[in-house]
Amino acid sequence: MQAVDIIAKKRDGRILSAEEIRHFIEHYTRDQIPDYQVAAWLMAVYLQGMNTDEVHALTSAMVESGEQLRIRDTLSPVVDKHSTGGVGDKVTLAVAPLVAACGVAVGKMSGRGLGHTGGTLDKLESVPGFRVELSQQEFLDTLQKHQLVLAGQSQELAPADGKLYALRDVTGTVGSLPLIASSIMSKKLAIGCSHLLLDVKFGSGALLKPVEQARELAQIMVAIGKQAGMHTVATLTSMAQPLGAAIGNALELAEAIAILRGEGPADVRELCYYEASELLVMTGKAPNMEEAHQQVMQVILRGEAVAKLAEVIAAQGGDGSMIERPEKLPAAPARLIVKAPRSGYIAAIEAEQMGRASMHLGAGRVRKGEPIDHRTGFVLQAKIGDYVHAGDALLEIHARTVAEAEAIQPAVLACYAWSEEPTQPLPLIFETVH
Ligand code: URA
Repeated sequence: MQAVDIIAKKRDGRILSAEEIRHFIEHYTRDQIPDYQVAAWLMAVYLQGMNTDEVHALTSAMVESGEQLRIRDTLSPVVDKHSTGGVGDKVTLAVAPLVAACGVAVGKMSGRGLGHTGGTLDKLESVPGFRVELSQQEFLDTLQKHQLVLAGQSQELAPADGKLYALRDVTGTVGSLPLIASSIMSKKLAIGCSHLLLDVKFGSGALLKPVEQARELAQIMVAIGKQAGMHTVATLTSMAQPLGAAIGNALELAEAIAILRGEGPADVRELCYYEASELLVMTGKAPNMEEAHQQVMQVILRGEAVAKLAEVIAAQGGDGSMIERPEKLPAAPARLIVKAPRSGYIAAIEAEQMGRASMHLGAGRVRKGEPIDHRTGFVLQAKIGDYVHAGDALLEIHARTVAEAEAIQPAVLACYAWSEEPTQPLPLIFETVH
């Protein structure tokens, strides 16, 4: 079987067999197919797409490219949660301890932020000393002991994805539905939790912007999970504006802690409680969403949700007292309030542009491996649908210097659209795919 024949077949819009896909991925993982051929193949997949059987075969080949942890053989139920990424998305930081505090184990491997979207690992590393690189044994031990572990993606799991993702990033092939579905699901299947909740974003700040594409992605991923014996549910949620108020690593961690205390902005709080409740229902811990919501509220009121996050932060080498007292988290030296340039209703806040502006403050990275500044970012004071008067506070910039804060102001203001008429944001939780 020649790589060039597999590339040409996909280029011509024909369907690849499971054997051809396995051959291609297996040989690429072993460095027996060069990057330039794989780049051509990725572009062919991007342009021609894949049918369901091909996506399943690609996912299986990627899972088989490395080790498989199969956590559910050690502990069950054990849940995983994944977001396709957004701006201000700190949901994992709140949902994971909420669910664990309710008595359901959460084994989470997360990624770093790249481009306009942030990454859970970077947010966690706002706490000095916190170790995200755990061996597989440490991952399992922490999970057994604390019912919760928050770690980086192990390089041994689905290594084909790591190689493919790096190539996709530089060949304009990230935004392909079959490639996204297989990338996400191969990592989830290699970890092997018993239950998985996917948060698939749509809207201006999301990877796939139209809701129809997000729905299609959700449906494919749910089907892949189910076929592999993993109870999988997906929620379609809006990324039409940044989620919550905070954008930036330590700022988002502080907001997640507020949510664990029953505080924080209503939109993101609602989403966190919804996702935690959904996971409790999926695992049978609660009979329905109302009962699950009550369990979530109880661990918040008893302080057990915050305590669970502090416990795991300390277990992984961080200073747990920063979770109990978030005012101790690293803070930016310069702050600048941006005032509304006019009166009116906020009609839009361009999430992607806002994410890019935060990168310029140091909160995100343009290239993999670059250092970031955990302290910088934005705190929004008003969201879509709010009426503000000219001169009211619109947001606060947290920067390394006043000059940097002032320099980013025009780009930030350009993210806002205004209306004379009342505007309503789309509902945040749009649909659930079972
Ligand atoms: N997240 C992933 O892990 N992979 C993708 O392809 C896109 C988002």
